[in-house]
Amino acid sequence: MTTTEALERDVLETPADTYAAEPFADEYGDPARYDLEYGTDGADLPFYVALAEQTEGPVLDVATGTGRLALALAAAGRETTAVDVSAAMVEFAAAKDADETVTWVEQDARELKVRGKFGFAVLAGNALQQFVTNDDRTAVLKAIYRQLAPGATFAFAIRFPHATELARTVETAEIWHSYTDATGSQVIVSGTQRYDAVAQVMTHETYRQFAVDGTPAAAPTATAVRYSFPQELDAALSAARFEIEATYVDFAGTPLTAETAATASALVYVCRKPESTKR
Ligand SMILES: C[S@@+](CC[C@H](N)C(=O)[O-])C[C@H]1O[C@@H](n2cnc3c(N)ncnc32)[C@H](O)[C@@H]1O
Repeated sequence: MTTTEALERDVLETPADTYAAEPFADEYGDPARYDLEYGTDGADLPFYVALAEQTEGPVLDVATGTGRLALALAAAGRETTAVDVSAAMVEFAAAKDADETVTWVEQDARELKVRGKFGFAVLAGNALQQFVTNDDRTAVLKAIYRQLAPGATFAFAIRFPHATELARTVETAEIWHSYTDATGSQVIVSGTQRYDAVAQVMTHETYRQFAVDGTPAAAPTATAVRYSFPQELDAALSAARFEIEATYVDFAGTPLTAETAATASALVYVCRKPESTKR
């Protein structure tokens, strides 16, 4: 057995015992951990910054998290406002912004109301999936629409709803990825998944253990994320009065087709608020 196999065996076997009595924590309650684990993924940033550069006026990053994209937009010279419902996330993101290049706002995006009309708005990092019910998703889409200037662009990406992946129930934690924590220690992230096909909601339980000995590196977290299919997203966007300009399966701009859908890593939408909003 290789070292990696031994490590994986230990990690796979230990969460249930190690964490049995621990309550689940909020996935977004520890921004420093979240930023180390996910904040380094910048594969989508050039795509969104390039889209923003084709627009005029201030830009809006909704559900900004640790400010990954908001800071990149501001660095590209755009007047940027960033919103998140989590006070901890907003505080952490603002602390990274020593030069105060971004206006940081703690707010529920379903009731978005910030100063200004924006030329570009974005929901990056699968954030639309946080809005689990149709009512919540409609609320956030309509709220973003209201904040945009006529002709403005709205872009977002979500995980592609592959039928085989949704149907794959995982009862015993499987290894997903790893990250390096603030002390330089490697942390293995593993988890379970279960899909509710009626609500279209996937729940995950996530465990983080030090690679060196399998001891917990953080409290376990639980999340529930909504999956959506292309046809229903088209309807939801249309109901919020957005026009769909393009739908891609990645951040390289590969169009969504029956062929590309088979191996799609994401559903990426570029939408527009019509120039004339009279109906
Ligand atoms: C998966 S993270 C994405 C963060 C960021 N957009 C990125 O790309 O790195 C989802 C974020 O959505 C935020 N969020 C969840 N519900 C929200 C709501 N109702 N209003 C605003 N933000 C919300 C969470 O606090 C979290 O920071």
